[in-house]
Amino acid sequence: MAKGLDVGTMNILSAEQEDDGTKFVQQRNSFVEIEYSDMAEQMLSRSQVLHIRKDDKVYVVGDDALNFANIFNKETRRPMEVGILSSDESSAIPMIKLITEQVTGDPSIPDEKLFFSSPADPIDSDVSTLYHQKTLESMISDMGYDPEPINEGMAVIYSELAGNNFTGLGVSFGAGMTNICLSYYAVPVMKFSVARGGDWVDQQAAQATGTPVDKITSIKEDDFTLDFTTDVGGVEGALSIYYENMLDYVINKIAEEVDEEDIEENLDVPVVVTGGTSNPDGFEDLFDKHLRDVSIPFSISDVESPDDPLYSVARGALVAARSEEESDGSTVSQPSPSSE
Ligand SMILES: Nc1ncnc2c1ncn2[C@@H]1O[C@H](COP(=O)(O)OP(=O)(O)OP(=O)(O)O)[C@@H](O)[C@H]1O
Ligand SMILES: [Mg+2]
Repeated sequence: MAKGLDVGTMNILSAEQEDDGTKFVQQRNSFVEIEYSDMAEQMLSRSQVLHIRKDDKVYVVGDDALNFANIFNKETRRPMEVGILSSDESSAIPMIKLITEQVTGDPSIPDEKLFFSSPADPIDSDVSTLYHQKTLESMISDMGYDPEPINEGMAVIYSELAGNNFTGLGVSFGAGMTNICLSYYAVPVMKFSVARGGDWVDQQAAQATGTPVDKITSIKEDDFTLDFTTDVGGVEGALSIYYENMLDYVINKIAEEVDEEDIEENLDVPVVVTGGTSNPDGFEDLFDKHLRDVSIPFSISDVESPDDPLYSVARGALVAARSEEESDGSTVSQPSPSSE
């Protein structure tokens, strides 16, 4: 047995192989603080709502946090920011631990292999991902697993480009970041992240329209299509404008980075765009159109997007964990010369 885990700024997901396919468990990586009362605690304990009590506060954690925030007119708090553990949030580690335990469950065997996603260092900000990665590693190890980090962009390649010999450009548009990896026969040629994603779009649209950020996120996730003709002056109009701006920014960074690498000129590769932010209708086409406007030193055969973009990274982490488990297993089961 082995598991894959995607620890993202907005969502934490686990992936595990079952007889009838891959099972995913997902929770929102966010929480909201509510005043403690005996009644509130009793109500929450009888419900399925994930929560913990700390002193005179109760924290509603995971998927229900956004609903509670919208009802109580509070803001959600997030353990991670721009792809890594937040340095402004003192409750970050206990909250992320609670959510991770809930999505992964206990290991099925001691030291079960678990690959978890970790972002590449961003090229447009000076934050380092090392502390984040090491902290998660020790947290997951305390849970009884044998953890190993996998680059988020590489996880996309494992998940979506098996049919093309793990060769291509994988782009994961998340909440805090966008992770990019160019792989050639399962070897990463270039990997980096850009410190912009869905959260940036939400914040800009919130500022432009004077709407609370949580409200913007709900509208965006509910039923938003990239369309530049309707709702001009409204929230959806603002979302479209900042979506396009974010796409342009990321594509320009890809062009700049690729240009600096020594890449074979007649390479012809597919591009996979995935991650929660790639969900809206019209995203793949807009990406394709803007990518063809910039000059890059290799050709793009096509731009693809999976049906379930939220699952790509967790699925890729699972593929990597299972393949490592198999290769470990084959080393152990090799007959030794003396046994023959
Ligand atoms: N249907 C949807 N339409 C538009 N945006 C969506 C939709 N569903 C999710 N999102 C957005 O996708 C983002 C979350 O995607 P994802 O889970 O891939 O990111 P993450 O892995 O948590 O973040 P990161 O990789 O940056 O750390 C959020 O900004 C969320 O609002
Ligand atoms: Mg992600």
